[in-house]
Amino acid sequence: MNPFTSFFKRKILRINRDRWNYQYDKGLWDGLKALDELARFSVIVGYVKYLKPGQPEILEIGCGEGLLQQRLQEQNYGRYVGTDISDSAIERAKAAADPKCTYLVGDMDKYEPEGTFDMIIFNEVIYYSKHPLQTLQRLATYLKPQGLLIVTINDHKHSDELWNSIKGGFKLLDETKTITAKGSCVCNVLVPV
Ligand SMILES: C[S@@+](CC[C@H](N)C(=O)[O-])C[C@H]1O[C@@H](n2cnc3c(N)ncnc32)[C@H](O)[C@@H]1O
Repeated sequence: MNPFTSFFKRKILRINRDRWNYQYDKGLWDGLKALDELARFSVIVGYVKYLKPGQPEILEIGCGEGLLQQRLQEQNYGRYVGTDISDSAIERAKAAADPKCTYLVGDMDKYEPEGTFDMIIFNEVIYYSKHPLQTLQRLATYLKPQGLLIVTINDHKHSDELWNSIKGGFKLLDETKTITAKGSCVCNVLVPV
């Protein structure tokens, strides 16, 4: 896309997908691969292996470049579906995918998954939804019986308010807080009620 069209779509039309594509193409999210981001991924990997051992079916919403799938490793899932609003991020994720993975472009506020899942993961993404609780509840209907949601949110000035609204719609199974040089992040395992 030429720079003028990109600028117009990002800044004037304020199209979300173009904003995220621009940021990924500029490398502005390369920091997600750094050591100070490892802890939040490791907590999710631990929860998946402990709570759904074997070959769970996993859906990740807002998967970016597929970093969680790469850290989780193929032997720990039977099916992994990753979706993100950015086609640039999804193209990069596909480059490191294995045969059990499907990567798709989709907006979490509208996306309709195919099939059902043992776990649905929102890692540093739910605050980009127009209506977080509604999106979590709608996508939770794609969980299998005993299925679980995993949600992480970096601590920031609105995070308590966001957690309070989310926790109103789910039962909390477990919570972990990670602290790194960059900041702190809360990870919740949620059960639909
Ligand atoms: C902070 S990044 C986190 C990426 C990845 N989950 C991780 O932890 O490395 C937020 C991600 O949310 C995606 N995103 C933003 N709005 C979205 C939406 N409405 N639907 C789906 N993905 C969205 C962005 O493209 C981006 O990849």
